[in-house]
Amino acid sequence: METLDVDAIRKDFPILKRKMNGKRLVYLDSAATSQKPIQVIKTICDYYKEQNANIHRGLYQLSADATERYVDSKRRLAKFINASEMQEIVYVRNATEAINLVAYAWGAQNVQKGDRILLTELEHHSNIVPWMELARRKGAVLEYAKMDDKVAHVDMGDFMEKIEKRPKIVAFAHMSNVLGTINNVKEMTKAAHKNGATVLVDGAQSAPHMKVDVREIDCDFFALSGHKMLAPMGIGALYGKRQILEDMEPFLTGGDMIKSVHYHSYEKNELPWKFEAGTPNVEGGLAFTAAIDYLEGLGMDKVRQHEKEVTKYAIEELGKVKGVKIYGPGMEEIERRGGVVSFSVDKVHPHDVSQILGEEGIAIRAGHHCAMPLVTERLGEAALSRFSFYIYNKSDEVDKAIRALKKVRRIFRV
Ligand SMILES: Cc1ncc(COP(=O)(O)O)c(C=O)c1O
Repeated sequence: METLDVDAIRKDFPILKRKMNGKRLVYLDSAATSQKPIQVIKTICDYYKEQNANIHRGLYQLSADATERYVDSKRRLAKFINASEMQEIVYVRNATEAINLVAYAWGAQNVQKGDRILLTELEHHSNIVPWMELARRKGAVLEYAKMDDKVAHVDMGDFMEKIEKRPKIVAFAHMSNVLGTINNVKEMTKAAHKNGATVLVDGAQSAPHMKVDVREIDCDFFALSGHKMLAPMGIGALYGKRQILEDMEPFLTGGDMIKSVHYHSYEKNELPWKFEAGTPNVEGGLAFTAAIDYLEGLGMDKVRQHEKEVTKYAIEELGKVKGVKIYGPGMEEIERRGGVVSFSVDKVHPHDVSQILGEEGIAIRAGHHCAMPLVTERLGEAALSRFSFYIYNKSDEVDKAIRALKKVRRIFRV
């Protein structure tokens, strides 16, 4: 029996009924963004048809209701990632903005000239460039823990060595969007704390696909994007431990993040509003709740199990195609590998692979996957092709993609 009833799930995703070039859409690019179930789409439509009002302002019923539901959506997300309270959930546009918030606001107060900032060689640009900018502003030193090539995991020996140099902040992905590597974030956080560092976990690829418990990880910050986990674009979250958020100065300023304003001073609002200047993405928050309801209805353990099965099948089948090289942890590491599989096909450029698969109605990502240092400098590839899976993918879609890859080989005579 299947772990998830994928046929039933697919019925909730209107876009999956679409045909591309006369062929049924096979969507294998959920690491870039997930598709949205009708429950989420309906929440957005209903909001504008029946509930739209600005929050925290009106004393009338419509505004009070919108405010209450928006606050409730934070409670829901707090529970989903096991934060202590909704005050620890700051809504932002996406994981990138969450990381920038920390690099600017926390970085301004806590990083000085000569301090170290530790990342890993596996990071997405969003977890590199904000720290690079912070290092430039402050004269801090940016370091990267190496990847162990044999296993495509962070080299823990190197990580420990660099941690002992007592960096101010350590930031790493929970799961790599290129290699699928799932880091041992609990162990990394513990080692960082032992050496006095603050820890940010980039959860853009983990929160959509597995049970996340920020208190068990014990990280100080956790960044995520709603659009990768069934919610719409433009809503994401920063989790931060309450005391750390209390001690931080605001990132953006203006309306809503204040308690009172005078001509020459202002009083900051309470958490989490201190970090949410201006009118927020209210429908995004409400739709995020619908997305979490949907995922929890399936059960995050089942989501993870289903993706493990599809990933395992994809690695097995891809491995049988002549000329295909798969990147990332091997099959024996499936427990520490998520549902993304990057690969190359002989000397065929991944853009050609993606285009030919596209003609067959199969959507895959090709390029540097917003991780240029990893893909081009570390793996030595100009680009890679990538399958990434979610709750609505089935093994027969992997079969279709593999058949199309064989066509690629025939066209390019490799
Ligand atoms: C590991 C990782 N971090 C951060 C991001 C940035 O996410 P967003 O573009 O939603 O801010 C991504 C997006 O692909 C990602 O895969």
